[in-house]
Amino acid sequence: MQKILVATGGGDCPGLNAVIRGLVKAAKRHGGWEVWGSKEAFNGLLGEPTDLVKLTPKKVAGIHVRGGTIIKTTNKGNPVAYPVKQDDGSIKLVDRGPEMIKKLKDMGFSAVVNIGGDGSQRISQHLYELGCPIIGVPKTIDNDLASTDYTFGFSTAVQIATDCFDKLVTTAESHHRVIIMEVMGRDAGWIALHTAIAGGAEICLIPEIPYDIRKIKQRIDKRYRKGKGFMNIVIAEGAKPLGGETFGRQATDAGDPHLKLGGICNNLRYQLEEMGCVPQIRTTVLGHIQRGGTPVAFDRILATSMGVKAFDLVNEGAFGRMVAYQNNEFVSVPLEDVTATNKNVTEDHALIHTARSIGISFGD
Ligand code: F6P
Repeated sequence: MQKILVATGGGDCPGLNAVIRGLVKAAKRHGGWEVWGSKEAFNGLLGEPTDLVKLTPKKVAGIHVRGGTIIKTTNKGNPVAYPVKQDDGSIKLVDRGPEMIKKLKDMGFSAVVNIGGDGSQRISQHLYELGCPIIGVPKTIDNDLASTDYTFGFSTAVQIATDCFDKLVTTAESHHRVIIMEVMGRDAGWIALHTAIAGGAEICLIPEIPYDIRKIKQRIDKRYRKGKGFMNIVIAEGAKPLGGETFGRQATDAGDPHLKLGGICNNLRYQLEEMGCVPQIRTTVLGHIQRGGTPVAFDRILATSMGVKAFDLVNEGAFGRMVAYQNNEFVSVPLEDVTATNKNVTEDHALIHTARSIGISFGD
């Protein structure tokens, strides 16, 4: 019996459990393979004692409808830059890659499936270069991973954001207010763009198109020109004003390299108020609501198929590759291609044309 180790790393995302179930079921039906999960990304493997769980078909039955990940996750467990507490209390980042690969061999694992976003797939590539037989499965609600048309979790996030947007429209209309709703999207504005079109926003602010606050003010003034109106704005957490910076602060947790975003909608509100914006402005930060709960049907299907494809790649011995969804097909791409660049919204994208054609302003 050969053994596969599966891990989920980085932020959670609706559909992770469906990938695990797809992988386990495909391995069981094929025969000759068993699947183990490493708890909290690779921390379960690296820890002493190890924290691994055997994933049987019974254990994964019905989990495709559940959000989160049954094997847990972390953004503080990069094996190649692992946070280790020193005697003086300081934290040093240590490369535990070679140790991890030896441990995998000693424990009889012949393949690893790493489900995660850009950071996790950079780790996959690094481990592959060290000789690890690894396959990547793309994950992020932001949908900004290169080489795949969609990542699971994204459609669920857009649906949640759109449902919230619809609710904010009725309250904005009742009070003649401007309501600014902030969605996730660290570097890419895909969630904001899709939600703005689905919900019918007047203004959509995304990281790829720096906004001019004067243009936003003019648009609000125009909307209220004939007296009472209302307006709903969507802003991505990573949106930037012209010549400005991303609004966030460095993570305080050792081993988490990310800037923590969230709250730019309040900055925008206060600036507009200072500029003399007449209507009342309110803000809502959706935050992690977008990552929680049940995945929508499309994400369950995408995630299940990606789990099955990951098993196919393991079985073929096609390591150093990431599962991808391209033109309605499940394919694989070299990990190094994935990690070289991100997939951002570009001015020539069809949805930017759609949005501009129906009058959505990007504040530019
Ligand atoms: O990358 C996905 C994402 O949801 C980003 O949109 C967001 O900035 C980040 O994760 C939040 O991460 P955390 O849960 O670590 O705060």
